[in-house]
Amino acid sequence: MTKRMQIRVALAAVLAMAGTSGFAQSTGEALYKAKCQMCHGATGMADTGAAKAMKVKPINDPSVKDLSEAKMIEAVREGMGKMQPYKGKLTDAQIKDAVTHFRTFLK
Ligand code: HEC
Repeated sequence: MTKRMQIRVALAAVLAMAGTSGFAQSTGEALYKAKCQMCHGATGMADTGAAKAMKVKPINDPSVKDLSEAKMIEAVREGMGKMQPYKGKLTDAQIKDAVTHFRTFLK
């Protein structure tokens, strides 16, 4: 094997690994914990320091729990109050997964 071929094979292996493992952890729960929990709290109750500083409403607040899933996705995509817009940072599928996890706290 030539040196160049070896490099190409090694590169292909790295890319293949990145391709399979990169998004494997991006379940709604993992995403929520990584990107949302610091402001919305582990159970959506906005009980973190950042949440209090930003006046994030708990998920059982009427103005939050009455929102449809579509409205929540829109809030995350476009931003709301002090929450930055996530479009361009997360894919639509990731936003939906994170919101789906957030909504599990409603029950
Ligand atoms: C930097 C803090 C911060 C982060 C991080 C953050 N949010 Fe928010 N979020 C807010 C604030 C502030 C609001 C608007 C105030 C409010 O009404 O709670 C808000 C509003 C929302 C709303 C609309 C309902 C509501 O609570 O008013 C949803 C749904 C939401 N966020 C979901 C998410 C999801 C999902 C993520 C992770 C992808 C996320 N947020 C990350 C601070 C944050």
